[in-house]
Amino acid sequence: MTRILVIEDDSLVSRTIAAHLKKKGYEVKLAESGEEGLELYREFRPELTLLDIKLPDINGLEVLRQLKQLDKNAAVVVMTAFDDMKTTVEAIKSGAFEYLVKPLDYLELDLTMEKAFQLKALEEKVSYLIEEKQKEYQIDNIIGRSPQMREVFKIIGSVANTRANVLVQGESGTGKELVAKAIHYSSPWRDEPFIVINCSALPDTILESELFGHVKGAFTDAVTETRGKFEIAGKGTLFLDEIGDISPNLQSKLLRVIETRDFMKVGGEKILKTEARIIAATNQNLKELVNQGKFREDLYYRLKVVEIWLPPLRERKEDIPDLVAYLLEKINRDLKKNVKKVPPEVMEYLINRPWRGNVRELENALTRAVILAKGDVILKENLPFEPEEKSAGEPGFQMPKELVPLWEVEKRYIQYVLEATKGSKTKACQILGISRPTLDKKIKDYNLRVETTD
Ligand SMILES: Nc1ncnc2c1ncn2[C@@H]1O[C@H](COP(=O)(O)OP(=O)(O)OP(=O)(O)O)[C@@H](O)[C@H]1O
Ligand SMILES: [Mg+2]
Repeated sequence: MTRILVIEDDSLVSRTIAAHLKKKGYEVKLAESGEEGLELYREFRPELTLLDIKLPDINGLEVLRQLKQLDKNAAVVVMTAFDDMKTTVEAIKSGAFEYLVKPLDYLELDLTMEKAFQLKALEEKVSYLIEEKQKEYQIDNIIGRSPQMREVFKIIGSVANTRANVLVQGESGTGKELVAKAIHYSSPWRDEPFIVINCSALPDTILESELFGHVKGAFTDAVTETRGKFEIAGKGTLFLDEIGDISPNLQSKLLRVIETRDFMKVGGEKILKTEARIIAATNQNLKELVNQGKFREDLYYRLKVVEIWLPPLRERKEDIPDLVAYLLEKINRDLKKNVKKVPPEVMEYLINRPWRGNVRELENALTRAVILAKGDVILKENLPFEPEEKSAGEPGFQMPKELVPLWEVEKRYIQYVLEATKGSKTKACQILGISRPTLDKKIKDYNLRVETTD
């Protein structure tokens, strides 16, 4: 039964309220003073408290503050007289859910309580989810005891409590996002948002409005004003994935935000402030991009206040057995299976694979082997067999390993054709079967690299 506490010194009023609430099926307890109310709150743990602002002993506002100290999610509805609006405003500021004017209108009381319960349920759900995330992304969930990984843990530990920007570099699938989340969720700002933006997945203009938001009418599709991720992130973390892919235009805008903490929405005039910490990641060599003039050097230095290099899996083979055990636990839990045995020759095979897709590839290979297993053993025949020579030779166009939107495939394929034709747009148009203006538009929209030869 839902528990409700009524703190009210006028016993006639409180008994009438109690009668109404009991009729509605609530369990009700009454307190006649602030002191008694606080005491009852501790043992009764009500889901909602109705609090009179004028009490004989402690001021109602003070009771409210103490209730909130006892339980920051306490749902408190304040009851007030008409001539007491100043205190009412104070009460709302101190975290009261709502105020009701006496004498109470019971229909209003019922509606208010319903709203309060809905909000409480939502708050509980959110804190549960945050807690789950925090558990999932603890540093213990990053597996590795090789010297390179120990170094990574050391940096995570020392950077988590600071606001420094971090640049995470490493091949695809080495755990860059995992490390970024570990930093965020072990920082004092772990209750604030962790927001991921994939800089290569979005055309320039969309990325800009994702980052900074836009005002109504800023462009054709801007029918309402939106908040950008820099605003939504609060004091949390903005994870800029594939940072090497952002256009020169956005590079300079990003530099400005990092330097001044100021930004404006697309089409907007008001200057907004951001407090977010930036963690950027890339699987390209950013220094190399700087040398080639494709990435601003000043931005590069602003991003890599702290740098983390994640080693490829083939350079830390000693971590593979631990990873296999950890991943098998996780996969079996997700798939509700129990395939955890790895014969020595299979482990040997796993240790010596090149794993060009690193931990992600290992995870995918094991998932497949678990699904295909007949008994409780991982069999070599169920692991993908990929001869070394194939990956060493000319790769050809590779479909993305992850599931991506159609335009992402188009973007990568056009880039691939442009490279194959050594920048000849005429040839590229013939191969792609599209007109020159269409190609030019796509190059611009997708921000493709092209060394034009015609
Ligand atoms: N050291 C590790 N311990 C446990 N799991 C790991 C580790 N490194 C990576 N993983 C797992 O491998 C998968 C890929 O990791 P993640 O997405 O962080 O890689 P990434 O470097 O961001 O890859 P990409 O460059 O392709 O975006 C995830 O499922 C992650 O949980
Ligand atoms: Mg990633």
